[in-house]
Amino acid sequence: MVKIEWLESFAIGIKAIDDDHKKILQTMQDIQVAVEKPDYDLCASLLDELVILGAAHFANEEEYLAEVSYPYIEEHILYHQELLLKIKAVKATCMDTDSQDGLEECFNSMAEFLIDDIIAGDLQFKSYLQARGLVK
Ligand SMILES: [Fe+2]
Ligand SMILES: [Fe+2]
Repeated sequence: MVKIEWLESFAIGIKAIDDDHKKILQTMQDIQVAVEKPDYDLCASLLDELVILGAAHFANEEEYLAEVSYPYIEEHILYHQELLLKIKAVKATCMDTDSQDGLEECFNSMAEFLIDDIIAGDLQFKSYLQARGLVK
């Protein structure tokens, strides 16, 4: 199982964004527990929650990036759209699979995409915010 935990090095320095990222990671931890049980119904409802959380987070983050005139916003929006499609695809696969191994595999790949947004994707705009003196 992939280890999912919040690390201080993930912090962007914008409270709303960091709080969203923590909430997303928390939901992923809850899904991981449901996968391990396994509790398929709980998994399904938590995955729905994750799609809603993810979509709301991406929208808020994009709004903020527009406000601060982030030059690579178009790329970042595309990246978010891809991530959402991936979460939905993984959810569909997860709901289809009747083996716990399959579900675990699905979950792990999804966890990687999401952690990718928080670590790789968002740390790119963090450097921009730092250069502009908007965060430490
Ligand atoms: Fe983000
Ligand atoms: Fe992002």
